[in-house]
Amino acid sequence: MKTIVIKNFGGPEVLQLAEMPVPMITNPSQVLVKVRATSINPLDYQIRRGDYESFFELPIITGHDIAGDIMTVGEAVKQWKPGDKVYYSPRFGSSGGYAEYHLTDESSLSRMPDNISYEEAAAIPLIGGTVWEMLVVRAQLKKGDSILILGGAGGVGTLAIQVAKSLGAFVYTTGQSVLHEELKKLGADVVIDHHKENWIEEIKAHTNGKGVNVIIDTVGGTTLSGSPLALADYGSVVTLVDIPQPQNLINAWEKNATYHFVFTRQSRDELHQITELIENGQVKPVIDSIYPLEEVQKAHQRIEDSKRDRPLLGKIVLTV
Ligand SMILES: NC(=O)c1ccc[n+]([C@@H]2O[C@H](COP(=O)([O-])OP(=O)(O)OC[C@H]3O[C@@H](n4cnc5c(N)ncnc54)[C@H](OP(=O)(O)O)[C@@H]3O)[C@@H](O)[C@H]2O)c1
Repeated sequence: MKTIVIKNFGGPEVLQLAEMPVPMITNPSQVLVKVRATSINPLDYQIRRGDYESFFELPIITGHDIAGDIMTVGEAVKQWKPGDKVYYSPRFGSSGGYAEYHLTDESSLSRMPDNISYEEAAAIPLIGGTVWEMLVVRAQLKKGDSILILGGAGGVGTLAIQVAKSLGAFVYTTGQSVLHEELKKLGADVVIDHHKENWIEEIKAHTNGKGVNVIIDTVGGTTLSGSPLALADYGSVVTLVDIPQPQNLINAWEKNATYHFVFTRQSRDELHQITELIENGQVKPVIDSIYPLEEVQKAHQRIEDSKRDRPLLGKIVLTV
């Protein structure tokens, strides 16, 4: 089968096309899936360049989203059968989706929503569970709350805007001016251009100094120290981004703020919540671009390039 293999850590050029044997079922609860589409997450280029070196042995097949068809099932598998359409996020540390076939335990599988394509489905699993964990499990976002989503045009941001809207929140986000109309169509009420405006000052001005109930951080930097300045009393800050340097959180006391640090556990139950929102039309996957698997190097270049001609909007998908 066709795969993309990483034999050395490095730039996009280490993603190499290779032929490998189709994996065989060796455990009765396993399932073999024909991968139809996969996608790019920052986690993939972080693994590729060696940020998680201690968790992986080379060679690596990365790829944290899969949409495809079940080919064969182990003898203990009762819930699934050949031909079922599934989508899921391979477990962190295991072999991933940049391949024609993927072997997994049945416990990781979710039924693919019936109203979207394989490409759209592949844009969802990792960010789907992540967004539900951030907004609902951690921040407990509810109708009438206000939320600021930093990085609204990214994979996480485009889904978070839609889920926040479906929960009845008033949504602020950041994004380049050229994308403001698109972000409003997704459900953002107010969009702040992070290249031209200071989001803390903008949020203070829009909320008469009161601040927002929830801040979702998908960009890192000094967001954790700055967030209390734009947060309402007893508000929550939820971050996804590892903190490379110590930050001063002294302003959080005055706001009685709560901080949540999220590292996705690829939860099938959380993904089911997103499946429902997709099937009832409240959420639609946002696809920035689609490349064939063979052009994976170009796809990684696009997501990593901070000086792109056309700004990123949503997820980059690979067809297999
Ligand atoms: N902990 C976890 O479990 C977990 C799970 C998923 C993702 N993540 C992390 O979350 C982050 C976002 O993931 P993603 O998939 O959404 O990434 P992405 O698709 O690459 O999106 C990044 C977005 O952030 C925007 N951005 C960059 N710097 C910004 C700034 N200073 N202010 C406002 N916006 C800014 C970019 O806009 P421009 O085009 O204007 O630069 C882009 O739209 C990544 O670091 C990823 O590793 C963590």
